[in-house]
Amino acid sequence: MSTITFLELSFVAFSGMAGAAFGVSLLGRRQVTMSRGFILATFFVAVLFVVDAYVIEPNWIQVDKVLIHDSQLAASLEGIKVVHITDLHLTRGIGFREKQLIRKVNDLNPDIIFVTGDFFDDVSQVEPTKELIRSLKARIGIWGVPGNTDHISMHAEDIVRALEPSGIRILVNQAQTVYTGVGKYFWLIGVDDPVYHHDKLLEALYGVPKNAPRLLLAHSPDVFDKASLEQINLVLAGHTHGGQVGIPFLVELSQYANRTIYMKGLFKKGKTQMYVNRGIGTKTLPIRFLCRPEIAVIKVNA
Ligand SMILES: [Fe+2]
Repeated sequence: MSTITFLELSFVAFSGMAGAAFGVSLLGRRQVTMSRGFILATFFVAVLFVVDAYVIEPNWIQVDKVLIHDSQLAASLEGIKVVHITDLHLTRGIGFREKQLIRKVNDLNPDIIFVTGDFFDDVSQVEPTKELIRSLKARIGIWGVPGNTDHISMHAEDIVRALEPSGIRILVNQAQTVYTGVGKYFWLIGVDDPVYHHDKLLEALYGVPKNAPRLLLAHSPDVFDKASLEQINLVLAGHTHGGQVGIPFLVELSQYANRTIYMKGLFKKGKTQMYVNRGIGTKTLPIRFLCRPEIAVIKVNA
C-alpha cells in the first residue's frame, strides 16, 4: 500500500466521482431510470479503470527512493547513487515505456545501475535490449543477472554472450569487487535465475570474505533465506512485478500472479535486507493497477 501514490488514489477517487456525476446527470433526464443510470455509471467507471490498467499505469514509471541503513555497506556505498531496475520484459522493441525508462534513469545520473533479470520475452527482442542497455549511462558500471523469462529463450552463457558487448556485466553464480572510491569497495555477487533453480549462491560466494560488505543480485526473492543464512548485507530482486495489481485480494485470486510473501518493498531477516522492485514490464496480462512500474534509487547510510 505504501507504494500507491497520492496521484493513483486521486485517479481512483476521480473515476468514482466522475462515474457518480455521470449517473446523476443521466438521472436528470426524465427518460433515464435510477437503475439504468446506475448501470451506465458503473460502465463508465469500469471503462476508466480499464484505460488506467491497460494504458496509463503500465506506461507511468515511478521513481522510488529506498534508504538502506547498514554501516558496513555504507563504508563503500554512502554517497553512491545506485539505480535498480528489473523485469524489462521487452516485447515490441523500444517503445514509449522504454524511452521513458532510459530518460528517467539517465536523468538520475546514477553511479551504478543494477538490472535483476527478465530483460526480454523472446529472442527477437535481444537487439532492442542491447540498444536499451547501450543507452543507459552509469559512472561506475552496469551489472545484471539472468531472469526466468530470459532462460525460456536462452541459456545463461548465451545471455552473457548476447548482452555483455552492449556494456553490462552479467554475473552468473559469480562475484567480483566493485570499487566506489579510493580504497573503497564492496563485493558484488550475482546468481543465476532462482525460479528455475539455476542459482548457486555458495558457488558464487567462493573466495568472498565473510566479513566483507556484500551485495547480492538475484532475479527473484526466493534467495532471501539462503542469503540471510550467509549474512549477505543487501539483496536486490524483482520477478514479482509487485503483483501488477495492488489489491492483495485480486492477486490471491489470480493463478498467474507471482505470489510470495515478498511481493514488493523492503524486508529484513537477521543482518540481511532485501529490496523487491515492482519492475518495468508486465507478463501474462499487459496490465498494472495501483502498481506502477518502478525505478528504485537505493541510498545506503550508516
Ligand atoms: Fe518478470
